[in-house]
Amino acid sequence: MTTRPLPDFPWDSLAEVKARAQAHPGGIVDLSVGTPVDPVPAGIRDALASVSEIPGYPATHGTPALRTTAVGSLGRRYGVEGLEPDAVLPTIGSKEAVAWLPRLLGLGQGDTVVIPELAYPTYEVGALLAGADVIRADGLTQLGPQRPAMIWLNSPSNPTGKVLGVEHLRKVVEWARERDVIVASDECYLSLGWDAEPVSVLHPSVHGGRLDGLLAVHSLSKSANLASYRAGFIAGDPKLVKQLLELRKHAGMIVPRPVQEAMVAGLTDDEAVAAQRERYLRRRLVLRKALQDNGFEISHSEAGLYLWSTRGEPALDTVAWLAERGILVAPGTFYGPAGGNHVRVALTATDERIDAAAERLNS
Ligand SMILES: Cc1ncc(COP(=O)(O)O)c(C=O)c1O
Repeated sequence: MTTRPLPDFPWDSLAEVKARAQAHPGGIVDLSVGTPVDPVPAGIRDALASVSEIPGYPATHGTPALRTTAVGSLGRRYGVEGLEPDAVLPTIGSKEAVAWLPRLLGLGQGDTVVIPELAYPTYEVGALLAGADVIRADGLTQLGPQRPAMIWLNSPSNPTGKVLGVEHLRKVVEWARERDVIVASDECYLSLGWDAEPVSVLHPSVHGGRLDGLLAVHSLSKSANLASYRAGFIAGDPKLVKQLLELRKHAGMIVPRPVQEAMVAGLTDDEAVAAQRERYLRRRLVLRKALQDNGFEISHSEAGLYLWSTRGEPALDTVAWLAERGILVAPGTFYGPAGGNHVRVALTATDERIDAAAERLNS
């Protein structure tokens, strides 16, 4: 494997504009990162503490309760069928899983990973860490006769909030099956559908009863406010999951035991997920209206945690314009060349900060 140079970490380049936003007399409204701000639900904190006396190493595969709870939650919340508990593998958040998945699946030089045109930067990083090539494409026709080793899907999308319909997902899965291509679906925003209902790649309407070649990557960061705990899992094709498990046992990629217990609580508590949705829904309505009333157009954004917004000018000009008002957002260029005229506005700030942003936009 030859590891290729990684790109600079994009958020580091925001330091100067962040300082400008921080100088606003009313303080910064930081909407540049999708980091949760609402407290971790009490039941999850209690679960974490309830096993904190256990001294031994945890299992890489997680507790049996964690695996069955994950299967139950995917079934209840998203209609996932046909998944065996053994085909669930806890991960230390999903960023780690995204960054190492191509490598752990044995991809390397000569392999190609397809990522969305506008994508969470870690898909590219993961391919580069494996020594593989990257193609940005949203449609199969763009790929022509090429046979990639793996395709990343991300619905709802970060950054655009776009939702891929069942038909689209099914076509990708069928195309990939015919060519023995792995489909990895990053579903960390699946609980946050607003104007469209996101569908898992593990839903029977997509996979038609067969999980071979399919992996779904899930995270509790957004649905249960657990970003600080680092809690995610991969589920899908039992053979692929077993392969990942065996490698991860050697590599020491183990989710801490208290976090495993917290995950069980988070995957059980549907009311907490619904309450968190309500908070984001309110923030979304306030911000969307303020942006639209003040010269912004919002593209896609039918689901997820972001408003993909444009003033029809280069992204960095919009970032600077907002920073003058004390609002920090991410330029669309962080996510791919097609993001040149957009900025990504996150819904992850307190109600007070979201209202402050709206007031500044309106004045
Ligand atoms: C599309 C996408 N995938 C994965 C992640 C990683 O989330 P975590 O590592 O907290 O599970 C993020 C984080 O923002 C994301 O936007």
